[in-house]
Amino acid sequence: VPAYVYSIARIREKIDALRSPLAKRAIDSKIFYAMKANRHEGILIDLARDGHVGIDCCSPAEISRALKSGFRESQITFTGTGVSDADVRVLADHPGVLVNCDSISQIRKMARACVGRSIGVRVNTGLGVSYGDSEQFSYAGTKATKFGVFREQFGEALDVATKGGLRVVGIHCHSGWGIANTQLTSYAAILRELRTFTDRVADLEYLNLGGGFGVRLKESDAPLDIDRFVSAIDDHFGSLGVPIYFEPGDYVVKDAGVLILQVTAIETKRDCVFVYVNGGHNLNVEAAHYGLTHPIVPLTLRSGSLSSVTVAGNINEAIDLFAEDIEMPKIEEGDFVAVLHAGGYGASMSSNHCMRGAFTEWLI
Ligand SMILES: Cc1ncc(COP(=O)(O)O)c(C=O)c1O
Repeated sequence: VPAYVYSIARIREKIDALRSPLAKRAIDSKIFYAMKANRHEGILIDLARDGHVGIDCCSPAEISRALKSGFRESQITFTGTGVSDADVRVLADHPGVLVNCDSISQIRKMARACVGRSIGVRVNTGLGVSYGDSEQFSYAGTKATKFGVFREQFGEALDVATKGGLRVVGIHCHSGWGIANTQLTSYAAILRELRTFTDRVADLEYLNLGGGFGVRLKESDAPLDIDRFVSAIDDHFGSLGVPIYFEPGDYVVKDAGVLILQVTAIETKRDCVFVYVNGGHNLNVEAAHYGLTHPIVPLTLRSGSLSSVTVAGNINEAIDLFAEDIEMPKIEEGDFVAVLHAGGYGASMSSNHCMRGAFTEWLI
């Protein structure tokens, strides 16, 4: 059975890598780990025990999981999309959860069910950032995206909240996935634009900058220098006088996990050597759905030279390839391989497609 293996030491190291530069600059801040990236119970329990990390949830089920893992309501943020009345009823049952509203419609629903509550408003600056500047990973851009309240409707959002007996105390903005050094100039433009929202909130108690911090998948990927990132935030918001919240998901877990698969068959078809494995894109969607090829390394060392292979899954779909034309040392049927950087959006996005959804998870 395929196995995900996560390193808790690496997870703690990544949280520290973000926390330390913030502390060094004395930036009042808090990290809310975005559970959607990896909701393995052992990881959540460990983070809850740490006590310094909160958790960001995007569904009622994630809230129950967070509570069950030991987080208190006051350590939970909720940032959902397409939020229903049923979702809001759950939020009403958890008055200590800090809710960032994604739309005016959600603010109306909150006003009906949670009068008197303090809320945040998720905003859309119309500017996004993303891995390799690819639009598919950006949460805002020239084309309208589904997230947040745009500037032209922000006044209405504030009005609806006030008239509905809610207090707007936070601004939230998650602008994309895969922020690296190459995106820091665009990111600075977002920070500038955010000022136009924060300036309009009289009772501002926090600014939440979301997640999206990049992890390198391959050597040619630009790294993210967290010191530079934090310094940009300090430049723009050091004087804001309220804490800055972050919701990193992938940055915390991605390179803390691997997916171990076994080679089921090796066969040359025309000019291509296919190495088939006992898992498919239903267990890790990133290569097939987003074109994000992860490094794959054999776990059995054999002598022999490198050759070009395509690593294919066991799902009956043409897109079910983990990597095409990659150099791989000699490999045989029965050997194990590890898909690296598989700790984020792997298990949490897996499905039972073809009824091949079985896998195990190990936290070491
Ligand atoms: C509101 C919000 N916060 C945080 C995250 C986590 O993003 P990442 O895993 O890229 O850090 C997401 C991801 O979709 C999100 O939508």
